[in-house]
Amino acid sequence: MASVTLTINGVKVTVPKGTTVLDAAQQAGIFIPTFCHDPELTKYGACRICVVEITGMRNLPASCATDATEGMEVFTESPAVIEARKTILELLLANHPLDCLTCDKNGACRLQDYCFRYGVKETGFEGAKKDHPIDDSNPYILRDANKCILCGRCVRTCAQIEDRSVIDFAYRGFNTKVATAMDLPLADSDCVYCGRCVAVCPVGALMIKPLMGLGRTWEIEKRPVTCTFCESGCTFNLNVKDGKVIGITPLEPGKGRPLCLKGRLALELKYCDDPPTAPMLKKDGQFVPVPWAEALGIKDIINKIVDLK
Ligand code: SF4
Ligand code: SF4
Ligand code: SF4
Ligand code: FES
Repeated sequence: MASVTLTINGVKVTVPKGTTVLDAAQQAGIFIPTFCHDPELTKYGACRICVVEITGMRNLPASCATDATEGMEVFTESPAVIEARKTILELLLANHPLDCLTCDKNGACRLQDYCFRYGVKETGFEGAKKDHPIDDSNPYILRDANKCILCGRCVRTCAQIEDRSVIDFAYRGFNTKVATAMDLPLADSDCVYCGRCVAVCPVGALMIKPLMGLGRTWEIEKRPVTCTFCESGCTFNLNVKDGKVIGITPLEPGKGRPLCLKGRLALELKYCDDPPTAPMLKKDGQFVPVPWAEALGIKDIINKIVDLK
């Protein structure tokens, strides 16, 4: 395969032709921040936090949407790049509820991490704050559109990985948000609660609800485990705190197969030290507690769990 050699921050990097500047930098171990980019999804190039300086180019291009070319000279942390990133972060903060002290995403939030990295403590931009209602309509996923940075990763994950397209961008300008069809609560949509959108959200706009309030992100160890409930063999993370399994979460796309709610519930029953007494399933449009055997669709639940072990 044809290759190209470029320099990134003075380091020579050779990559296959067609590789983006972002991928070339990552292959060379050089950090570039990203919000909207996801290697499993189509190129998007919307958030612009990944901009770099390239000799001979007037503007700062998005590295995730720019192909590396022969002889290209790239700078990932030049003064102009840092200034641009700070401005993007300040614009995001201008709209963002600064709830870090109590936010369940604290410690695993890209917005927080990048603000720390670039020394952004406050915003110089004043304006209206978003005031979207929090979607608490279902037992599995909490959606807080006020914390959303509109990176679109959840939208593309639902469409391209789950093949469901339950959510999309709605409204315009300042009012733009990620919404279900007709902007209904998630409980009234075709969502199957796979949780993949939650796994890719870089901020605290989407959270796995049963885990909320159970621990800070740095107190919870993630241990991958393969589901044996069906032949697909999806991989989940056991969330372990103080030696106890407190919940099951999906892996990011690319680090495991897609997964289903049934598999997650089966693993909760198998592994969690304190599984829910009855899982919640939707019946006639309402979530209601149901027996485990019904939730998992098997008659002899005891035998199945023995099989799983
Ligand atoms: S989403 Fe991130 S930046 Fe926003 S409140 Fe939560 S931890 Fe803080
Ligand atoms: S949980 Fe799964 S099906 Fe539901 S919106 Fe997220 S990705 Fe789509
Ligand atoms: S909910 Fe999360 S993943 Fe979806 S657009 Fe907002 S910030 Fe991005
Ligand atoms: S990560 Fe490149 S534009 Fe968003």
